[in-house]
Order: sequence, then C-alpha cells, then structure tokens
Amino acid sequence: MNAFVAELVSGAVGVARPRIEGPAKVTGAARYAADEPMPDLAFGAIVMSAVSRGRVRDLDVPAVLGMPGVIGVVDHRNAPRLSPLAGTFFGPDGGLLMLQDGVVPYAGCPVALVVARTPEQAKAAADALPVTYDEQPHDTHFSAGHPAARPASTVFGEDANVGDVEAELARSAVVVDEWYRTPEEHCGAMELHSATAWWDGERLQAVDCNQGPFIVATGLATLFSLEPERVRVRAEHVGGGFGSKGLCGPQLVLAVMGATLFGRPVRVTMSRHQVFLMTPPRPATEQRVRIGAGADGSLRAIDHEAAFEVSPLASYVENCVEPTKTLYAAAAIRTRLTAVPLDILPPFSVRGPGLTPGSFALESAMDEVAERLGLDPLELRLRNEPAAGPVSGLPFSRRDLVACLREGARRFGWADRDHRPRTRREGRLLAGTGLAATAFSTGALPSSASITAEADGSFTVAVGASDIGTGARTALIAVAADALRVGTDRIRMRIADSDFGPAWAAGGSRGTASWSWAITDAAAKLRERLGDPERPVTVTADTTRVLGGLPPRERHAYSAIFAQVTADPATGEVRVRRLLGMFAVGRVVNPLLARSQAVGGMIMGLSMALHEEGVRDRASGRQVNADFAGYHIAAHADVPDVEADFVPDYEPDDPSGIKGVGEIGTVGTAAAIANAVWHATGVRQRTLPIRVDRVLEDDPR
Ligand code: MOS
Repeated sequence: MNAFVAELVSGAVGVARPRIEGPAKVTGAARYAADEPMPDLAFGAIVMSAVSRGRVRDLDVPAVLGMPGVIGVVDHRNAPRLSPLAGTFFGPDGGLLMLQDGVVPYAGCPVALVVARTPEQAKAAADALPVTYDEQPHDTHFSAGHPAARPASTVFGEDANVGDVEAELARSAVVVDEWYRTPEEHCGAMELHSATAWWDGERLQAVDCNQGPFIVATGLATLFSLEPERVRVRAEHVGGGFGSKGLCGPQLVLAVMGATLFGRPVRVTMSRHQVFLMTPPRPATEQRVRIGAGADGSLRAIDHEAAFEVSPLASYVENCVEPTKTLYAAAAIRTRLTAVPLDILPPFSVRGPGLTPGSFALESAMDEVAERLGLDPLELRLRNEPAAGPVSGLPFSRRDLVACLREGARRFGWADRDHRPRTRREGRLLAGTGLAATAFSTGALPSSASITAEADGSFTVAVGASDIGTGARTALIAVAADALRVGTDRIRMRIADSDFGPAWAAGGSRGTASWSWAITDAAAKLRERLGDPERPVTVTADTTRVLGGLPPRERHAYSAIFAQVTADPATGEVRVRRLLGMFAVGRVVNPLLARSQAVGGMIMGLSMALHEEGVRDRASGRQVNADFAGYHIAAHADVPDVEADFVPDYEPDDPSGIKGVGEIGTVGTAAAIANAVWHATGVRQRTLPIRVDRVLEDDPR
C-alpha cells in the first residue's frame, strides 16, 4: 500500500455517499440552463437548413416580422462576425462559424434565429420563415474506400509501425482478416441543449449546458473576438453530456448573437430533432483488422486500419486504434487512421470516443483468433500481456488487466464454459457467453482551483468543474475534505463557473483526476497558512507546471466485460441476460457514484451493440431517424441485471491515486455482446447494431 492510501484510509475518499444535489434535483429546485429566471427574457428558435449542401438564396424576413411577439431575425446578413480561430481540442472548427455567409455545408445547419417574446411565438415564426436555396450536389455516403480518404491528423500520436506485419502474418498458424463496421451514433443526453446569454455592461454572461465552462467561455471569447475576462459562462446543473456538450454549442453561439443584436437576454433551447441534427455524432467507422497468432496463442501481428467520416470544416480524430497500441504484446503492430471528408456536421467525441468502435473491432477479432485456435478467449488474452507499452516501449504506471480478467471470470463462472458455438439451448432460444478486455487512457490535464479558509472554520472550494450528472460535486467534496484533513461537512463546493479559472472539462474520463489534483495542491498550500490569524484567506493552485514534469508512462484504466445472451432463431431477437464488468480505474473516490458510472457506461455499450444507428438517406443526405422514435436506445426492458465492481488499483503518479471511470464502461461492452452472440448462434456479427435482420440473414443453416 503506498503512502497516501495508508494516510487516507479513514478519510472521506473511498466512502459511498449519495450525491449532495440529489434532493434539489428530485424536488425540482435544481436549475438547469433552461430554468434560470431572467427579467426581460426573449426566446430564440433556430431555423435549420433543409438541404445538405448549397447556399441560402433568400430568407423572407419581412414575412414573419409582423407575426405575434416577433422581435427580430438573425441571419447571415446581420449576424455578428465570428473569428475562424475558434475551435476545439482538435483545432479550428468551421462548424462554429454560424450565420456568416449563407453557405450550407450540411443538412440541419442553422440558417437563421428567430427571436420572440415567448418560445411558442419564436417557433411559430421560425416554422413560417420562407427560405430558398441554391442547392449543390452533396456527398454523405461513407466508405473506407472513398476517393477523398486521407490520413487522419496525428493529434493522438503517430501510426504504429512496430516490426514487419506481413512477415509475421506469413509465419502465423492462424490469421484473422476481417472488416468491422459501426454506424453514426448520437449522445442523446436527456437535457436538451439550452443557453441564455445577455450583456452585463461590457461583460458577456451566459448560463449554458456544457461539460466545461472555462473551455466553453474561452472558445466563446475567441469566436466573438472578446478579451477572455469579458466572458463568463456558468453551467450549474447539466443533464448529461456524453461529448455533445464538450464544445461551444449552437445554442450558445446563437443566444449570444440574439442578445447582441436585440439588446436583451436571449434563450435558445433546441428541440430533440435539432439536437440530433446540430450536435455532433460519433462518426461511422469501417475497420479492417488482421491478427496473426502462433499455435500456442502468442500474437505475432496486429494490423488495424480504421476509417471514419469527418467534415471538411474541422479536424477530428476517432482514435479507434488506441486499444491496439496498448492492449497486447505482438512481434509486429501496425495502425492506420483514415479520415473521409463528407458533407456532414463535424463529428466529435461521443461516449468513449475512438476506443468504443475501435475495441469492438479489435476485441471481436481477438475472439475470432481464439475460435480458430480452439483456445479459451480468456486464455488468449492472458497469454499476450505486454511487459511495457507494445508500441511506445514506455513502462505502465499500473496495469491491472489480468486482475480484471481473472476476477471477472471467477464471478461470472467462465471456467465452466464450453467454447464451442451453437451448442446451448434454452427452449427455442440459443444461448451464449462472451468477453472483451479494454483499456482507456487516463491522466490529469491542467486545471486550477482555489480554497478559502472562512472565518467560521469552513472551507469554500472553487473549481471550474462541470457536473454532468456524474456526481462530480460530491466526489470533489470528499477529495477536498481529505486534502484539508477536515470532515466533508466543513466543505462548500462551488463549481461550473468560468470565473473560477482554467479547468479541464468533464471529458475524456479526466475530470475528477484533473480537478482533484488542483484541489489537493491548493489544500497543501492552504495548510501551510492555517496558522495565519487573518481569515478569510484564499489560496489558488494551478497544475499546469507539475503535470508538465511528469515522467512519460502508459497510463490506462482497464476492464474485462462478460456478457450472456440469448438469440431467437425464429425472430432474430437478441436479449442480453447478464452483464458483468470488472474495472481497474485507480482509486475509487466514491464507490456508489463510480458503480453508477460503470453501469451506465455498460448500458450505453449494450445500446450500441443492439439498438443505436443513425440512418442517413443517401438522396437527401439527411439523417432520417433524427428523434427517439426512430433512433432506438436501450429501454429498461432491454437492460438486465448489470454488475460492476472494481479491483484494488491506484495511479502512482496522481496525488489522490485517481485514474478515471467515466467512459471505460462503454468501451468493451459491444464486443463482449457480439462475441456472446457468436457463441450462441455460431455467426459473427461484424456490423453494429446487431439488428434482428442481421441475425436472421446470417443464419448458417
Ligand atoms: Mo466524453 S465523449 O470524453 O465527453
């Protein structure tokens, strides 16, 4: 046990506590972005492009100006000018440049904002606004072999080129060479995207729903060419994000435009249909995986080529090959990432970006290797544990994948499994089990926090964190209490305000680690000054420098997911009967909240495996199922008992031992389910979702 674990064993970290804002949420007292009371508030309704590519020929604004309550219309002729420098983690993002020139780059792009006294009046006028277009041919049809395909940005590192893949494949006893496909998928957060913006003298203020108020405020300042100090963004309560609230959203950009033009607070709340068309999807992927193995199950070569769709407006990388670079030892490892630009909204991070479709391909292919070798898929993974990063050569900080696999197998009852497919029946149903292993990269990102020792002996902690439903507030209170060596009742946690200073977002499974480190550093500074007679006293810490000095290592969370399914050969229906995930996520700050994260992630993985599919009509270029009637997600009746638990783990380089738990639940689940469907039916499902027609069409008899 390392020092901090021993020291804090009796502290608040590690104790299961319900989220402190729970009562406020269930009684309706908690205010989400669309709930904030505001005097003189006007409402904006977005008009979306009806075509997939072209130019607005005319917007007949006078036709709606006389409608009840209408205050005005923002379009490309009167909108404030935006800076093309604004962007995301991936670089400048032309998708943010709304209402600038009348150019339509994708179906559903905003072409106007109608502002009125009530939401109903705004919507009525937006629906009535006559818009004509000069339409141009569009291309929204994705395939890996598309002529526009080009190498993806290397923002996540260079392609892997270890050893000689072709030579090792030639030497292998078995070779799997298959294509795997995943569709466009959507975040589908329960809270619709909403923002309210107003000018407070020279200062732009906004209440928004987002995953990182500081990052969003900085982006907004760049976009509107304002000094960063002149922009304040808050996001007190957020009803889910999953990636879709990680950037400066259309609701916020358009609300600022309305507030600027009409000189009063403007609120923009999207409809569900608009959330589907205007907030970024996970791009569709096509992935070819080749794996060669010796007769003893040792991997000789892994070659993973992943193609995904992008927009020419913005760089984005769906980093499908991350697991391939770290999960298994092999004599040769090669990865390639290919981006295919299409006339679509720029895709962005969704629920375990990159790794989720990537691990579906890799872990399905691994199961196919085990099948061809006649080897237990668990054993195949255990035999290929690397001693160091298989591509990077770096040491692992802590690698607890084997512990996850062994403990998961023990609890699931894997030892009794008959590995032959299509041999078990439950009445007319075919039954099977499957597993998948995963890793998810972790590590804190630069953040700041301040702590005030108040005159009454309490402490006010301020950090620009965002609680998107995870319980971040509650987790951070425990971290702060332990760092200050006081009880949680003496901590007042203030989050979700860009005025609290630079902070990483609730994204990349790195929120808790990033914010906790800043809080811990601030607490250490404050403890040195607790003898000061003067109160209140405030200290601030910023982790940028300390993080820059960390030794390079492979830092990951790990999981092993086990699934049990039935398949109905008459209808093609697959039901998941049991899901079990064992996780190594570093120190668990709050077991109740962490389990909720892991279980929620696994449910998303189940939903991805069986239900979710954004369907694009090739002729119009539009998504045809842009609502929850057409875009299916797992409902209660689809979700079995889900078990999630944690093996003892900690991150040695993190002051609180934290890795991250946000997304790893999602990552391995689809492959575990697809592998179980193979075990049940004898048929591989290499295209998601595993729809009934795919199960039926692939019946081997
Ligand atoms: Mo998450 S998809 O990193 O917001």
